[in-house]
Parts: sequence; structure tokens; C-alpha cells
Amino acid sequence: MAKVCVAIATVLAVAALLQTSTAQTTHVVGDSLGWLVPPGGKIAYETWADMQTFVVGDILMFNFTTGEQDVARVTKEAFDSCNSTSPIFLETTGPFNYTLDAAGEYYFIGTMDRHCFFGQKLAINVSTSAGPTPSPQAPTPTPARGPVTYIVGDDLGWLVPPGGYIAYETWAYDKTFLVGDVLVFNFTTGEQDVARVTKEAFDSCNSTSPIFLETTGPFNYTLDAAGEYYFIGTMDRHCFFGQKLAINVSASTGPTPSPQAPTPTPVRGPMTYVVGDDLGWLVPPGGYIAYETWAYDKTFLVGDVLVFNFKNKTQDVAVVTEEAYDSCNTTTTIAVYRTSPVKYTLTAAGEYFFTSTFSRHCFFGQKLAINVTASSSATPPSTTTAPTPSSSSSSSAPSPTAGGPSAPPPESSAPARAIFGISSTLLLIALALVH
Ligand SMILES: *[C@@H]1O[C@H](CO)[C@@H](O)[C@H](O)[C@H]1NC(C)=O
Ligand SMILES: *[C@@H]1O[C@H](CO)[C@@H](O)[C@H](O)[C@H]1NC(C)=O
Ligand SMILES: *[C@@H]1O[C@H](CO)[C@@H](O)[C@H](O)[C@H]1NC(C)=O
Ligand SMILES: *[C@@H]1O[C@H](CO)[C@@H](O)[C@H](O)[C@H]1NC(C)=O
Ligand SMILES: *[C@@H]1O[C@H](CO)[C@@H](O)[C@H](O)[C@H]1NC(C)=O
Ligand SMILES: *[C@@H]1O[C@H](CO)[C@@H](O)[C@H](O)[C@H]1NC(C)=O
Ligand SMILES: *[C@@H]1O[C@H](CO)[C@@H](O)[C@H](O)[C@H]1NC(C)=O
Ligand SMILES: *[C@@H]1O[C@H](CO)[C@@H](O)[C@H](O)[C@H]1NC(C)=O
Ligand SMILES: *[C@@H]1O[C@H](CO)[C@@H](O)[C@H](O)[C@H]1NC(C)=O
Ligand SMILES: *[C@@H]1O[C@H](CO)[C@@H](O)[C@H](O)[C@H]1NC(C)=O
Ligand SMILES: *[C@@H]1O[C@H](CO)[C@@H](O)[C@H](O)[C@H]1NC(C)=O
Repeated sequence: MAKVCVAIATVLAVAALLQTSTAQTTHVVGDSLGWLVPPGGKIAYETWADMQTFVVGDILMFNFTTGEQDVARVTKEAFDSCNSTSPIFLETTGPFNYTLDAAGEYYFIGTMDRHCFFGQKLAINVSTSAGPTPSPQAPTPTPARGPVTYIVGDDLGWLVPPGGYIAYETWAYDKTFLVGDVLVFNFTTGEQDVARVTKEAFDSCNSTSPIFLETTGPFNYTLDAAGEYYFIGTMDRHCFFGQKLAINVSASTGPTPSPQAPTPTPVRGPMTYVVGDDLGWLVPPGGYIAYETWAYDKTFLVGDVLVFNFKNKTQDVAVVTEEAYDSCNTTTTIAVYRTSPVKYTLTAAGEYFFTSTFSRHCFFGQKLAINVTASSSATPPSTTTAPTPSSSSSSSAPSPTAGGPSAPPPESSAPARAIFGISSTLLLIALALVH
């Protein structure tokens, strides 16, 4: 990236010398992603911005659909807190071109619903000259070192990640891969596999003729030459759902260029939803954004079933009030289920809040909030509805057993147990995602 930036800077500097009026650049925000709630959260626009150089006179093109998105320029404070009360500027008609007319920092957010909270936010630095913009995200060059063994995805392992392939992009983002390094693909034989493929096959998720296929996990792959490496899972539609990794391997030390901004991954599950998909129900790498992202584009109707898959005795499923959810106080719960898999039927319209009673799991992001709407089918929405689960009074919360014939009976609530030690790798991913 440094080389690219220097190259761009050189070209622009030469251009500036040759002609007094430098051509303005139009930056399409997010490239093909456009301007929306990005899968994987705000890292998407951070990654995108990191790859651009913004100069006074340049244009930002916010490509969005009128009525579905909007864009506001806000102060740093409003950006940080996602406060859209008093934007400096608000545009509701897309696509929209914004001319960067002065040097400095610019902050943009989407003001609709909770779009900003879910990552529709962009912060950039605009400079007067064509010099490269210093970026807080730029990977720092690492000193010379011996071979490193990387566990792909760290504790996540190698699977279909929640939120799509941004998970492995994020994982690879700040890493430097050198010839001689080893990638460990940690997966369960029979459930996953790994193939090295060409860029074309990677882009189209075509697993017909892999360069290399390994079906037994865990598998160690030694990076034996410089260049680009593309890996996918070939099973079912794993690659389409994000089980794919692209990396740059260099012969010498130096920062690894970041991959392109992500394109949206269309994930629409059936009426039985497996919470977190292959991730299951645990303390997610990347923090709570994992389950927010998972839930974000799903429609939950009364009668739908949530399946929580987890490891017995290391996780549980607690149904809690909104207050308990927000504060991660699980002293009092509506219900706790301890035997995986938990099949929970959504019996009433309203908000549902789930977490785990294990110590600090909630704080580290094992929490799920969803909105359930009345079924659009034969049953007409009733005005004498069942109690709203989000009510602060646990007495008005829905009985988890009432309409959930497949749900096991709740066990008594227990105090949080201090058994879980989050690994530093999980924290690193979390930091990368929330950075
Ligand atoms: C804007 O988004 C639309 C719809 O996704 C797409 O067809 C179009 O190519 C985009 N325009 C640019 C300049 O990226
Ligand atoms: C949002 O910003 C407005 C005006 O800038 C301020 O009055 C309000 O208190 C802020 N809201 C929050 C929740 O910080
Ligand atoms: C925005 O800028 C692009 C590229 O310069 C241009 O093609 C497009 O017509 C502009 N759109 C508007 C609404 O001004
Ligand atoms: C802009 O650059 C300054 C100085 O390098 C840095 O402190 C700041 O975080 C940058 N702001 C953004 C929005 O990237
Ligand atoms: C691989 O995954 C298994 C099961 O999730 C886990 O127990 C093991 O520690 C992982 N190995 C490494 C090297 O991360
Ligand atoms: C997948 O790749 C194979 C060989 O590389 C090619 O023959 C085939 O047409 C490709 N399939 C698609 C759907 O692109
Ligand atoms: C893969 O690498 C890890 C870490 O270096 C090592 O513990 C493991 O034994 C290796 N596995 C194989 C099959 O070589
Ligand atoms: C590898 O680096 C090159 C040059 O910086 C870049 O064009 C390419 O997109 C990178 N590929 C991957 C997979 O990161
Ligand atoms: C947690 O909630 C319980 C009631 O549900 C309350 O008694 C207790 O004080 C709360 N603890 C904290 C630390 O807020
Ligand atoms: C959890 O325990 C139940 C009952 O002992 C068992 O049927 C189930 O397979 C276990 N689930 C897992 C994921 O180990
Ligand atoms: C449910 O929808 C309401 C109204 O749109 C919204 O205020 C609330 O934040 C949503 N709750 C969750 C958990 O998504």
C-alpha cells in the first residue's frame, strides 16, 4: 500500500507540476458496495477510505437509493455517538455528489433507523496537496522476522463466517504474510474443506478445478512463493456465504495491501434460523456486531424458530429484558436454556433479547436482539396482542415455553459463572472490527 500511495502521490505531483489545474477525482464511496449498512460493520468504509487519497476539489459520490438511505455530514462528536439530531448537512436524494471544498476532516453518517450504529459511517481526511493522507489504519511495517504460523480466522477457525467474507478480510487486513509462513486452516473433516484456487475461481466461487484441495482438517499450508493466494471452501455454498480468503505474500518485509471493499453478501435464511449460522452461539470474534449483522437483514415473524447451537456447559441461552440486555446484568432472567441445541419458537410480536449468563460473555458480544413481527400469512395481526417481550417487567415477558413446543423447559436462573477467558486473538479481531 505504501508503494501504491507513493506512486499515486508521485503521479499526482507530476500532474500538478505539468498543469496548474489538477483534475478532480470522483470517489464512489464504498465502490461497488455503494452507501448502505455494510456487512461486517463500519470496517468496510474504514478500509475503503484507507485506500483513497482525498484532495480539495475531489468529489465524493454517495451512491444510494432514495428512500432507503440518506447521507448527512456531521461533527466528530455526532459521528462518534451516531447522533443525527443536528447534521451540518443532510441529503435524502441519491445518488449524491459532495464536493470536498476545504482541507480537514469530514464525517458522514446515514441517519435512517440505526444505520449509523450498524456501520454506515465514513470519516476522511482531506488535504490541500496531492500528498498521501496519513492514515491511522495504515499497517505499520514489521521488522525482519522468522516464519510465522497463522491460524486462519483465529478462534473462529475456517468456516462460513457470520456477516460474510468480511470476517476473513478483516482477519487478513493487518497481517503481513511472508514466504515461509504457515497458514493453519482449522476445520472439522467432513464439515469443511479448503481449496487453493485462481483469482477468477475465487471471484466467482467456482470450485470445479481447484489448484489444490484438502478435505482433512486441520490443515497446514506453507506459503512457498511470493504472490497472491486465493482460498475457498468448496462445500455447498460455503464460498458464496463468505468462506474465502485472499492474501498477498511477499518475499521481504513490508505492509500487506488491504483487500478491496466488500460487496454485499445476500444471505436469506429459511424460517428456521440458526443463530450465527456456522458460527453458532458463543462469544463472537469481532464482538456483538456479529449477531447484529447476522440479524440485520432478516425478517422474523411469529412462528419462526431460532436454533442456538453451542457447546454444552460452556454456553447457555438466556432470555432477558431489554434492561438486562443493555447492561449485561443477567442476575435476573426470563428463562435460561442449557442444553444444546435450543430451539426457541417466537410466539409473539415484539422485541426479544438473548444473551448468555456465563461471566462476561454478554460484555464480549454474545447477545442478540431481534424484532418479531406478526406473521403476514393467514393469521391477521391481533390488536389484543400478546405481551411485548421487551417490557421491563419480567411478568409481562412471553413465556418461552408457551408457544415453543420444541423448546426445552427453562432451568432456573443461576449467577454468572467466571469460567471464560477470552483469548487475545479474539480481542484482536474485536479491536480490528470496532476500530
Ligand atoms: C450505483 O449503484 C447502482 C445500483 O447498485 C449501480 O447500478 C451503479 O453502477 C452504481 N454507480 C456507480 C457509479 O458505482
Ligand atoms: C445529539 O446532538 C444534539 C445537538 O447537537 C444534542 O442536543 C443532543 O443532546 C445529542 N443527543 C445525545 C443522545 O447525545
Ligand atoms: C456525480 O459525479 C459523477 C462523476 O463525476 C457524474 O457522472 C454524475 O453525473 C454526477 N451526479 C450528479 C447527480 O451530479
Ligand atoms: C486525520 O489525520 C490526523 C493527523 O494524521 C489524524 O490524527 C486523524 O485521526 C485523521 N482523521 C481521520 C478522520 O482519518
Ligand atoms: C481448532 O479448533 C478446535 C475446535 O474448535 C479447537 O479446539 C482447537 O483449539 C483449534 N486449534 C487451533 C490451533 O486453534
Ligand atoms: C468453472 O471453472 C471451470 C474450469 O476452470 C470452467 O470450465 C467452468 O466453465 C467454470 N464454471 C463457471 C460457472 O464459470
Ligand atoms: C500445524 O502447525 C501447528 C502449529 O505450528 C502444529 O502444532 C501442528 O502440529 C501442525 N500440524 C500438522 C498436521 O503439520
Ligand atoms: C495484492 O497486492 C496488489 C498490489 O498492491 C493488489 O493490486 C492486489 O489487490 C492485492 N491482492 C490481494 C489478494 O490482496
Ligand atoms: C442486576 O439486576 C438486579 C435485579 O435484576 C439488581 O438487583 C442488581 O442490583 C443489578 N446489578 C447491577 C450491578 O446493576
Ligand atoms: C448437549 O447435551 C444433550 C443432552 O445430554 C445432548 O443430546 C446434545 O447432543 C449435547 N449437545 C452438544 C452440542 O454437545
Ligand atoms: C424494533 O423496532 C423498533 C421500531 O422500529 C425499534 O425502535 C427498535 O430498536 C427495534 N428493536 C430491535 C431489537 O431491533
